[in-house]
Amino acid sequence: MRRTMTPPDGHLPALQPADGPWSIYVHVPFCASRCGYCDFNTYVLSAMGDDAVSGYLAAAHREMDRAAQVLGQRPAVSTIFFGGGTPTMLTADQLGELVDHVRTVWGINDDAEITTEANPETLDEDVLSGLLEAGINRLSMGMQSSDEHVLTILDRRHRPGRAVEMAQLARRVGFDDVSLDLIFGTPGEDLDSWRRSLDAALTAEPDHVSAYSLIVEEGTRLAARIRRGDVPMTDEDDLADKYLIAEKTLTEAGYVNYEVSNWGRPRNGRDHRCRHNMAYWLGHDWWGIGPGAHSHVNGTRWWNVKHPATYRSRLADGRLPVEDHEVLDAQQRHEETVLLRLRLADGLALSQLTPVERHRAEQIAEQGLGAFEDDCLVLNLSGRMVADRIITDLLM
Ligand SMILES: C[S@@+](CC[C@H](N)C(=O)[O-])C[C@H]1O[C@@H](n2cnc3c(N)ncnc32)[C@H](O)[C@@H]1O
Ligand code: SF4
Repeated sequence: MRRTMTPPDGHLPALQPADGPWSIYVHVPFCASRCGYCDFNTYVLSAMGDDAVSGYLAAAHREMDRAAQVLGQRPAVSTIFFGGGTPTMLTADQLGELVDHVRTVWGINDDAEITTEANPETLDEDVLSGLLEAGINRLSMGMQSSDEHVLTILDRRHRPGRAVEMAQLARRVGFDDVSLDLIFGTPGEDLDSWRRSLDAALTAEPDHVSAYSLIVEEGTRLAARIRRGDVPMTDEDDLADKYLIAEKTLTEAGYVNYEVSNWGRPRNGRDHRCRHNMAYWLGHDWWGIGPGAHSHVNGTRWWNVKHPATYRSRLADGRLPVEDHEVLDAQQRHEETVLLRLRLADGLALSQLTPVERHRAEQIAEQGLGAFEDDCLVLNLSGRMVADRIITDLLM
């Protein structure tokens, strides 16, 4: 990897975008309050000053203009993803203006997937209708759990039931693509509580479910509480049991796992995989707009300055808000391909592997952790549960 300091003007090395689809990520760095387990780049909006949103929006629009100058001619965008933070701290109109700006600058494919993440407590019928009118056609809601006790430990503001209600309302309002995020392994969550959360999520008949095991991030309030002994540490065996419960419950309900933590429901001729996340995992190009956003163009990666005030001032001065960048060498690109594709149900093409790695892939299959399908190594359920170890073994 060549990691060279990015000069203060945010200048990037010459980019040569890859052929094929490309995407825009927009990071919205505001939340109503901070959840104790979360270390995403986000700030409590009420503590940010009156012009926080207007300043952010002006800067985000400017970054798109600068991106267009840097990238040159590009085809229309295939997917847009508003992530956070809580994108629905912006109004639907403000999100719509960002969508419109992408359309003006690059064009948006007719069949583009345009997702926003949303917290259930920020939604109601008017907001949902406004999001649809803004051109957003996929809603990804953070439900996390249906258990009040678990939501409290996670410091979530919404009451149990709200996410399911909003998912059902989203459907009635006209959303054809609704996803729910769940977290398992929260201290104090037992197996029955996790089963109830899955069952509750399924009552909303979402098109897509993400189930992430709780990561205790250093520096968070949750990590401090665990260190003090106030709440117990997550347990590996418990996490494994809960992953198995998720797979069984979701599969029996007709969902198909397509990435270790993600399941889609085939409906109306679509498999409802998240196309934007698939673009990351397949190594396509994307530009990340917003404070702390990461981007990738054909082996060059970069990430923006994290604080919204620095982000704004960089763009106001006509500079790119890039904090730093790296150019991946051939070995790094190879490792990334292995790491990302092995987590996908479509598997890792054997043609991508060296002879030594192919031999290791055979050993993985012999250990009963995967199989060869269409000249790809595809992990089975046992393999998915130890995917990180398998990836390390394959690349060692
Ligand atoms: C960045 S959040 C944004 C969406 C929205 N603000 C919310 O919280 O629902 C996206 C998802 O990341 C997941 N997430 C955040 N922190 C996590 C952690 N420490 N461990 C596991 N999942 C986490 C949650 O499932 C969350 O729904
Ligand atoms: S989990 Fe979501 S709502 Fe909570 S602080 Fe993180 S981004 Fe904000």
